[in-house]
Amino acid sequence: MESLSLLKRLKLHVSGVEYTVSTADVTPDTTLNTYLREKVHLTGTKRMCLEGGCGSCIVAVEETINDERKIFAVNSCLVSIFSCHGWKIHTIEGIGGPATKYHPIQTILADNNGTQCGFCSPGMVMNMYALYASGPKTQAEIEDSFGGNICRCTGYRPILTAFKKLASDSDEAVTLEDIEDVKICQKGNCTKVCNEKCDEKKNGYYFGLRESKWMKVYHLKDLLEILRTSGSATYMLVAGNTARGVYGSKPHPDIYIDVTNVDELTSYTFSEVDDTLVLGGNFTLTNAIQLFSKISKENKNFAYLSDVEEHINLIANVPVRNIGTIAGNLMIKYNHNEFPSNIFLLLETYNAVIVIVDVEENESMVSPQQFLQLNMAKRVIKHIIFNGYDSSYRFKTYKIMPRAQNTHGLVNAGFLLKFNGQTVVSARIVYGGISSEFVHATKAENFLKGIRLFDNNVLQSVYQILDDEIRPDYVLPDSSPEFRKLLAISLFYKFVLNIAPQDVVSSRNKSGGSILDRPVSTGVQEFGTNKKNYPLGQPIIKVEALAQTSGQAQYIADIPDLPNQLFAAFVTAKASASSQIVSINTAAALNIKGVVAYFGKDDVPGENTFTPRMGGFPVQEELFCEGKVQYFDQPIGIIVADSHDLAVKAAELVEVKYSKPDRKPYLTIIDVLRAKDTSRIHHQTSVVPKSKGKCWFGTDTRHVIKGDFYIGMQYHFHMEVQCCNVVPTEDGLDLYPSTQWMDSAQTACSSVLNIPMSRINVHVRRLGGGFGGKITRNAIVSTAAALAAYKLKKPVKMWMPLEKNMNVIGKRYPLYATYEVGVNAKGVIQYLKADLYSDFGVGGNEPIDSVLIDLFENCYDISRWAFSTYVVATDTHANCYTRAPGTVEGLCCIDSIMEHIAHSLDLDAADVKRVNTNETKFPEVVRFWNDMQTWGDVPNRKKDIQAFNKANRWKKRGMSIVPMAWTLEVNFNYTVMVSIFHGDGSVAVSHGGIEVGQGINTKVIQVCAYRFGIPMTKVSVKPSYNVIAPNCSTTGGSATSESVCYALLRACDVLLERMKPIREKMKNPTWEELIKKCFDSNIQLTASGFYSEDEPGIKEYYIYGICVTEVELDVLTGQNQILRVDIIEDVGDSMSPLIDIGQVEGAFVMGIGYYTTEEIIFDGQGEILTNRTWNYRPPGAKDIPINFRIKFPENTPNPVGVLKSKAVAEPPICISCSVPLAIRNALASAREEADESKPKWYSFNGPTTVENTLSNSLNDYQQYVL
Ligand SMILES: Cc1cc2nc3c(=O)[nH]c(=O)nc-3n(C[C@H](O)[C@H](O)[C@H](O)COP(=O)(O)OP(=O)(O)OC[C@H]3O[C@@H](n4cnc5c(N)ncnc54)[C@H](O)[C@@H]3O)c2cc1C
Ligand code: FES
Ligand code: FES
Repeated sequence: MESLSLLKRLKLHVSGVEYTVSTADVTPDTTLNTYLREKVHLTGTKRMCLEGGCGSCIVAVEETINDERKIFAVNSCLVSIFSCHGWKIHTIEGIGGPATKYHPIQTILADNNGTQCGFCSPGMVMNMYALYASGPKTQAEIEDSFGGNICRCTGYRPILTAFKKLASDSDEAVTLEDIEDVKICQKGNCTKVCNEKCDEKKNGYYFGLRESKWMKVYHLKDLLEILRTSGSATYMLVAGNTARGVYGSKPHPDIYIDVTNVDELTSYTFSEVDDTLVLGGNFTLTNAIQLFSKISKENKNFAYLSDVEEHINLIANVPVRNIGTIAGNLMIKYNHNEFPSNIFLLLETYNAVIVIVDVEENESMVSPQQFLQLNMAKRVIKHIIFNGYDSSYRFKTYKIMPRAQNTHGLVNAGFLLKFNGQTVVSARIVYGGISSEFVHATKAENFLKGIRLFDNNVLQSVYQILDDEIRPDYVLPDSSPEFRKLLAISLFYKFVLNIAPQDVVSSRNKSGGSILDRPVSTGVQEFGTNKKNYPLGQPIIKVEALAQTSGQAQYIADIPDLPNQLFAAFVTAKASASSQIVSINTAAALNIKGVVAYFGKDDVPGENTFTPRMGGFPVQEELFCEGKVQYFDQPIGIIVADSHDLAVKAAELVEVKYSKPDRKPYLTIIDVLRAKDTSRIHHQTSVVPKSKGKCWFGTDTRHVIKGDFYIGMQYHFHMEVQCCNVVPTEDGLDLYPSTQWMDSAQTACSSVLNIPMSRINVHVRRLGGGFGGKITRNAIVSTAAALAAYKLKKPVKMWMPLEKNMNVIGKRYPLYATYEVGVNAKGVIQYLKADLYSDFGVGGNEPIDSVLIDLFENCYDISRWAFSTYVVATDTHANCYTRAPGTVEGLCCIDSIMEHIAHSLDLDAADVKRVNTNETKFPEVVRFWNDMQTWGDVPNRKKDIQAFNKANRWKKRGMSIVPMAWTLEVNFNYTVMVSIFHGDGSVAVSHGGIEVGQGINTKVIQVCAYRFGIPMTKVSVKPSYNVIAPNCSTTGGSATSESVCYALLRACDVLLERMKPIREKMKNPTWEELIKKCFDSNIQLTASGFYSEDEPGIKEYYIYGICVTEVELDVLTGQNQILRVDIIEDVGDSMSPLIDIGQVEGAFVMGIGYYTTEEIIFDGQGEILTNRTWNYRPPGAKDIPINFRIKFPENTPNPVGVLKSKAVAEPPICISCSVPLAIRNALASAREEADESKPKWYSFNGPTTVENTLSNSLNDYQQYVL
């Protein structure tokens, strides 16, 4: 082995600047993300999940290998800084910005309204940047490449619209010269400063570190030599380093060996003569996709590689695939047999050979299954050998995922059958996701040999054998064994339909042979504007959009650290509710160098609550556990340390002992109802029919329908986690909390610290999303951080890692309802009785009763309804407001009752809703309903759906129409201050709302400019600040933008009134002249305005909407795709139509997540098992409607609205229940065919996931015929 040279520093280029990093300052656990944000202070690159699942941290890497320069996206949260030696890294700040020139990708995203909170935007831009630089891409390829970028705000449509303009096949194709520039950067002709010669990298090197060594090798020989001579030292090969995204990082080994550029492991040979493709073990997944695409097209015997290519395209996401390797994936499977590795499945299906080499260079060739049994110590996966298959083979693999992209399969399956005519010669049937041990359906494989497959009797026998030998395990949070078995058998049937000769399959069954095929998505946004009022009502993009897309927009975690900066992390209860804390031992944590303090309940100078009485809260929720654990993961205290990572690590070392819990925790409403524990059920309201006294039942009851309904929690999934930065001042504290409610943070801190509220200054520039989760809940973090800062007199930052955030912070209120309805033959309700139970967990500070009732009543005639609402106390975290709390659940509940009625009576659900609509009270709903019939082409599409369902047994379509009358309640107050500067007449506004992504600042600027008659560029909005806007309500309930604009108008009017006498004395002055004159005349040029429910003209009003959703189902897998959504939403005279369109799209897609992919699962102790991007799944870019159409009706001014507008942020999520209802309608057709004796309707029992749909399909393999 050539000796490796010792390097003491590593070098990398970030946006053209060379950085030299001393190995003493970093460890292999230091990620590129930490380095960029904390050492280089480039905070445009964000972070959230730290596991490759959200995309907020994406940067582009430029690397030269064998003289070939490549640019690719990586998740900076996964890459070790040591992997970056010699890399050129492009960050969001480096590619463009205000100081130089915005990069066209930054501009295109901003111009297409692709940002709301903006937290995802840098990652989006950098993913697109790398994609574009890697060569021309079609629209489909672009749309396919954002599976790893989560955006919780926009609903993706505008992001995709923006980026598809860069596609080679776009009508509007835009060429980006800046990226072309990057590509011309060649060896020896590099445009950027680089002290390293490219080929210098061919010499191995190592870094000697305090606890370990990091070695880089280029030749297999050297790698094996290191392994041979390393004795008993522990080691780890580092390829993409992405496995840490799945199972977390491991304890430090003695040696890290970077194998990413080992020639033998990263190259391939293809021989047509030998019919073999030999791939280096550390071929990246992206390279494999490209190679397989090429070879499969050019060589008949390798056509199957196109299936492999498609399958790999479903693994993880683009940045992970760019560096993640085949060997790395296989080793995850090796170390964790339960891992549903798609690579393992593929290799086993196609009988690939794994070549393992040991330190003596002995090679052994094994099957993937044999590989799992090997001792891999000091052995390396050298090659993967793929053999060719001639045309006698038929094959297909499947990965059935709970959302379209970027998540592991529920069940994976691979089938490879060799035929002689129709007779099977050999069979490979491989499944993943069944259990750690199960790989081949061996009995079925054996049975098939020599059998003519395309025969219904034979198929039944195969299914029976599969039924017998597939025994899925049951490990929460994985899906149920029954579902996985049914899915596994269904996939075999799907395969058979796929390969069967066309003449043996009935035409109705044929479409069962394919998976759902998603075309490139599209959308329509229709609205009218009144140019006369511009800039009011002008369709403009967010004022902060470019700051967001260029990484300039600062979030709380981006605020630079101060001298003596400290960080805090929660210690939480790892015990079930009702356990008693017996002892807390902090020694192990406090003994670590850099750990500064632990604070718990006894250290709180004031009240140990973040919901104090003085804040008006009815329930005083504990900041730190008082002794008896209220819920699993309740905060007990905080550890303070000199870095965030250390604080988090040390917090885990605090040893807490508990007594045994008194009882099993109540985790759901149903647990409480079953236990009949009435002390936990609190009656709220009983709504009784208006005609009380008389018999209120209708007289024409023909049918009685009874049922129940349950929908669960939803995590807010704000991309910026809960955080706070606290800086002690000479008289108190400066607080920078990620709160939607400054007043809550202020009162809570004042109460916890026992200091006057006036000593706490709260500043909020923006949030990276809130969705209700940061209304009262942020005070948990901000008071904890404030306590540490106050005690230590040092600045303290705290941001909760995603898992902690999900464990501690409550979620959407689950709703359980039971109902009984009597209806006549047309479905008109003669009586309705219902009980509605909302799960508050241990909380109770965020009431929803009135709005739950409002939307349960919706637009219907309630004269014969009697129902009661209850709050149920369970032993989970305090559930809390989540976008449109109560109204989402209420509307879904009643509309599902309407659909239940329709299915029971064999009526069209739309007709049932229409006959129950209160047309007198809600004529607008009827108007929109009629408009939708033509705009949404509803009658024709209904006919098409019927025809489709008649023609297809295993694909079904369904439609649901959901009307809405959403009550906007007015009970908030806000202050706004407007200051005009005399020098140039420019205007600064600060308001008591919070910019959470909803575009409040943009509306403020439009309204202010409109009122003053000045250009928008004259107005600037400052961060919210409690001294300027004290005692304000939370930002929420959809009403804040409007209400703040109301207060703004009041302030503007005060100023205009003061200026009036001066203006009248002047001859048509310009604004600047007027202001100057006012100033000279001692006119005060600052004024406040106030909004409250008591102000003139403030009234409640309804927001109307209607939504039609059409879906297609794969009845054999339970998967769906949303073919088309049409929404007509009444926004009055929109103040800012593009901003409002964004709200509708984003809210609707958040609803898609709630209803189809997001699920919170607890274990029996109350610990949340779905608290990572790996298992909690907000929708991605390919889960949105394929055709997403939105219309704001024209000429619907709101007589009681601010400037005739209406609120917009929350109502559209309510109508998204049309998605699960459309799925039910599609499945009704399948259920009817499967078993006529069973009801077509099945009730809600949590989200309508893939599992839920297939489990309710009434499929039975006896129906699986040709
Ligand atoms: C967000 C996300 C989603 C994912 N989704 C999926 C999915 O849906 N399906 C799926 O199958 N996988 C999925 N993965 C796993 C992904 O495919 C793997 O993380 C990746 O392939 C690992 O490759 P790597 O090069 O990064 O391995 P590394 O992390 O570098 O290494 C992993 C292990 O492999 C060992 N190793 C590496 N090379 C060799 C070698 N040549 N010989 C012997 N040992 C070696 C290392 O020592 C280490 O122990 C996902 C990962 C992430 C982060
Ligand atoms: S922070 Fe890196 S992908 Fe989420
Ligand atoms: S704009 Fe995408 S997460 Fe907020």
